[in-house]
Amino acid sequence: MTQRTYLVTGAASGIGKATAELLISRGERVIGADLQGTDISADLSTSEGRQALVAQAKELSGGVIDGVIAVAGLSHPIPVTASVNYYGALATLEGLRPLLLNSAAPRAVAVDSMASLQTHDEELVEIFLHGTEEEALARSATLAEKPETGHQIYSSSKRALARWLRTAATTDEWAGAGIPLNAIAPGVVLTPMTRELVATPEGRAALNEKVPMPLNGPFEAEVAARLLTWLAGVENSHLCGQIIFVDGGFDALLRGDSTW
Ligand code: NAI
Repeated sequence: MTQRTYLVTGAASGIGKATAELLISRGERVIGADLQGTDISADLSTSEGRQALVAQAKELSGGVIDGVIAVAGLSHPIPVTASVNYYGALATLEGLRPLLLNSAAPRAVAVDSMASLQTHDEELVEIFLHGTEEEALARSATLAEKPETGHQIYSSSKRALARWLRTAATTDEWAGAGIPLNAIAPGVVLTPMTRELVATPEGRAALNEKVPMPLNGPFEAEVAARLLTWLAGVENSHLCGQIIFVDGGFDALLRGDSTW
């Protein structure tokens, strides 16, 4: 089998790290990107960082990337979460798309979240989809003022990312160019992002109440990594615009059959 080249953001920790390691263990080539500690150091909350990601990815890959896996994200109730989770993810996918066009079997995957189904701020979601990053940061700053709305920056960023992806995936740029574009939406994954939340029995119980996962509960990053690598692999020829909930049943519990 021909070796493929993957670009994985968030590769220094959690799901991104597990994904990079899984791909490498299968003999694939991985270019990792993160704030630090990987092949490319780039801050995806800034336009300089986003430009650096694309420039360095081009150089390191030699101009061809077979799979882009946009994992990097933040869950803090602060405005920069909006920049990384939405604009950083779009900059990764759209910025690296020209390199995917040079692959014989290009694939792109993002990491969304079950939080996209939780309480969110519709105004912020609309700004993400139709406004500017400056406006999104201003709205996020307002939400960040109160603990009860601060967490909506995260859920809104993931909701907007899912909505963007559903629309973009079928366009000439993606499906029309032969690039499957999909996402996973994990439930609670045991990574540094959730470490504090699950550190105590009380924390675990509270989380279980907020995000019930009847099938096997919270899981290790490798579970998400396996799905990501399949979606970014050659075998995935026809999934398009899907947000796949790998969440132990949380989505099915919450939405039941209402999606049909
Ligand atoms: P993590 O905290 O272990 O890894 C996230 C990585 O993103 C870190 O290495 C971090 O340095 C990087 N990152 C953060 N800000 C960045 C920036 N400005 N520029 C470049 N890289 C940056 O967390 P985890 O759990 O692996 O999260 C990965 C993705 O999975 C995120 O998008 C997160 O929202 C999503 N997710 C996680 C869930 C969980 O329960 N852990 C559940 C659902 C979604």
